Amino acid sequence: MSAFYGRTNQLNQLQQWISKKQYSLVAILGIGGIGKTTLAVKLANNLQGEFNYIIWRNLRHAPPLKQLLVELLQFLSHQQSFKLPEDINALISSLIKCLQEHRCLIILDDAEQLLNPGAIAGYYQANYEDYGQLLRRVAQEKHQSALLLISWEKFLQLELLEQKNNTTASLTLKGLPTEEAEKILVDNGLFGNTEEWETLITRYRGNPLALNLVATTIDKYFNGSVSKFLSLKEVFPNQ
Ligand SMILES: Nc1ncnc2c1ncn2[C@@H]1O[C@H](COP(=O)(O)OP(=O)(O)OP(=O)(O)O)[C@@H](O)[C@H]1O
Ligand SMILES: [Mg+2]
Repeated sequence: MSAFYGRTNQLNQLQQWISKKQYSLVAILGIGGIGKTTLAVKLANNLQGEFNYIIWRNLRHAPPLKQLLVELLQFLSHQQSFKLPEDINALISSLIKCLQEHRCLIILDDAEQLLNPGAIAGYYQANYEDYGQLLRRVAQEKHQSALLLISWEKFLQLELLEQKNNTTASLTLKGLPTEEAEKILVDNGLFGNTEEWETLITRYRGNPLALNLVATTIDKYFNGSVSKFLSLKEVFPNQ
């Protein structure tokens, strides 16, 4: 596993929410590259012993809900061939039954793919509204499992569920603090003084992906010198 710095409070928070069965629908939110997937992997590792099943699904290609439900049910029933219901609500009911019988953690990564990138933030794309049914029922019905959503944007529905019932919670990730972000730069072979680290980290808002990318550039073209890179800011104003 690649380096993992900081995020202690966030990890503890998420672990507590899920371990204590305080929340059954949990979201990790934040812009691209901020470290959502990395944090969720760490969380899943830490929680392994507590769950009968941990299932990770990437929604990058926005599977229709029916396809996702069938996959989840097939997995949870150990591929036994049994007749699955056709109707979405009946499929969700079958999933909830599994979530009652076993303690499962279902992680849905890149869930922003379900949302409409248009003007109104947080609404589902056309034909994906039925995911709302899944989230609502997971949040509201009784079971012993948890669904973890990872997304850039907050689903409007999550906001409503958070307000309406006490089984939904979300955590928004911000950039890494200087101390931890600095370790990423050092790992990439960079050198500089405190002020230079701070300038670079502030410029990239502590985003670990952005810092890794700029560190590669500095290592390759500036022999690892943060100072040389920063002195060129007027030549490359957007760097
Ligand atoms: N806490 C951390 N310590 C060190 N490196 C980190 C940390 N968090 C993330 N990274 C690194 O930053 C990069 C981006 O992280 P990650 O893929 O988790 O972001 P993300 O929020 O899931 O992005 P996206 O929304 O694009 O999927 C990865 O290379 C990862 O190794
Ligand atoms: Mg990710």
